[in-house]
Amino acid sequence: MKKHAIIIRSIKKKDLEDIALCIRNGGIVVFPTETVYGLGANVFDSRAIEKIFRAKGRPSDNPLIVHVYNLAQLELVAKDVPEVAIKLFKKFSPGPLTIVLPKKDTVPSIVTAGLPTIAVRIPSHPVARAILKEVKLPIAAPSANISGRPSPTTFEMAKREMENRVDFIIDGGDCKFGLESTVVQIKESEVIILRPGAITKEMLQSVLLHPHYIVKQFDEVKVSKPLSPGQKYAHYKPFAEVYIVDKIDIEKIKKLFGNKKIGILTIDSRSLVPENVILKSFKNLSDYAKNLYRAFVEMDSSGVEVILVQSVPEKGIGRAIMNRLLKAAENKYLNDVQENIPLYILKQ
Ligand code: TXA
Ligand code: MG
Repeated sequence: MKKHAIIIRSIKKKDLEDIALCIRNGGIVVFPTETVYGLGANVFDSRAIEKIFRAKGRPSDNPLIVHVYNLAQLELVAKDVPEVAIKLFKKFSPGPLTIVLPKKDTVPSIVTAGLPTIAVRIPSHPVARAILKEVKLPIAAPSANISGRPSPTTFEMAKREMENRVDFIIDGGDCKFGLESTVVQIKESEVIILRPGAITKEMLQSVLLHPHYIVKQFDEVKVSKPLSPGQKYAHYKPFAEVYIVDKIDIEKIKKLFGNKKIGILTIDSRSLVPENVILKSFKNLSDYAKNLYRAFVEMDSSGVEVILVQSVPEKGIGRAIMNRLLKAAENKYLNDVQENIPLYILKQ
């Protein structure tokens, strides 16, 4: 176990220099991005990367995302970058888009879990950019959570997860998007979304008309094994049990879960809930995305045992939200047909 992390509340030039030095010397640093907080290290230092895997308890076969300052720095980690990738980066970066590209041999294989490809993005958060600019190295950074847990989207969440495990934790406020970046892979004339995020299928398709690429989500592609190692792991899970519901029916929920402490995440606005039920009502889909993980963690802290999450239509950012809800709920839907038994059906 490491010493306590140095906490930086409002970052100054001197802090940036210290952080850059720490990264160059093999340290690991929690920093804000526009999606979620990341846990970063020098991509070329395999011992530092090993520390990331250890701090997170991350399986060694799950590769990391590498953050670069700009397209010029991309050349340090990726080779044979296709035109379409440049087009997508130019349109959506800096921002929450990650592209899987052929990896340069100079990147240690631990970063990509032995894969010949590397996932790269150009973050837009000013603190992430300031660090990348100061350190002048690409930074490998998975989300700053213990493996399997919701990604931190606030400084407090990041601190709670990583306080005793890292060298620095930088407060950059609340993350703008709250869900991890969209990860895509380019295959012949298709762009496949491996992980949906704030750069949506519709947004990608709109810039891929000339030349024409078809944008598909991973579940629309027939494959024998997961396209992205991350797909096979349980993810984003609070301690409470999670079920997806299409419509919130408080009476039915009370009947099904008896006297358990219940939490509900909904996009319907309602004011009256019975005692013992904690309700979090999101204003819209962006608010749902932004505050989902935070709501999970807050419900855990209030002793909630069962969290019911309301489903959303699978379009736009709704795809990313549903992807995380399904993972958190391990695909469990509350059966809204039968009230007695069984409690839920498994929906594949
Ligand atoms: O928004 C984000 O992307 C955040 C912030 C910190 O940038 N990072 C993040 O990293 O979510 P992480 O490590 O938690 O998720 C990386 C995902 C995993 O699902 C992993 O399997 C996939 O990207 N991935 C990484 N390299 C890959 C590769 N070469 N091929 C396919 N999938 C890859
Ligand atoms: Mg993660």
